[in-house]
Amino acid sequence: MRHANKLLPLILLGFSVLSVQAQDDELLKHSRAVSQSMLKELGQKLQSAMADGGAVNAIGVCNTQAPEIAGRVSSQNQVKLSRVGTRARNPVMGVPNDWQAKALAQFDAALARGDKPADIEFSETVETANGKEFHFAKPIVLQPMCVSCHGSTEQISPEVKAKLHELYPDDKAVGYQPGQLRGAVVLSRSAP
Ligand code: HEC
Repeated sequence: MRHANKLLPLILLGFSVLSVQAQDDELLKHSRAVSQSMLKELGQKLQSAMADGGAVNAIGVCNTQAPEIAGRVSSQNQVKLSRVGTRARNPVMGVPNDWQAKALAQFDAALARGDKPADIEFSETVETANGKEFHFAKPIVLQPMCVSCHGSTEQISPEVKAKLHELYPDDKAVGYQPGQLRGAVVLSRSAP
């Protein structure tokens, strides 16, 4: 039993490492679920608006509903959730900050290596002046249905171009092709 004294601190250390790990797993799982539910709701709204009245009609979904859904899901879950772009359309919400730009760079490299978008994600916990903060991001890859608003000049109709130009005079989110990294869903929250 002489060794027990020496082992106890090690065992306790082991438990605290395990519990930090468990907390991180919980944060990760929760962040994945919250991000997924926002993208799903937005995707469904976008698809039905496109089916109802085409891309011109659907711009409203992205313009007003995307921030609205993100805001609602954020306050329901006490997180900050939004979407950013590799080249932004929305000059306020869509521009990545430092950690989000780092995540996008990692996603770009992972896609270039051939990783599947579903398998790629970013997470980190950082110390800030207000305590610990947890960051999570998941890539958003362009789908064929997105080109009518984010594709090449020929793929975007004159009506859509005019409306986009009116709402986003400094729009940079065009010229994408399916499979390319369009941006990320990003989440941050305080961590225990
Ligand atoms: C009907 C036009 C339209 C379609 C179709 C569309 N988008 Fe967008 N997208 C927009 C608009 C408008 C914004 C700006 C929203 C805002 O102001 O927050 C935007 C913003 C974004 C952003 C946020 C970053 C930024 O640039 O501001 C991402 C990411 C994005 N779109 C991805 C996609 C993907 C992926 C698809 C296909 C599944 C898609 N979009 C389809 C119009 C569209």
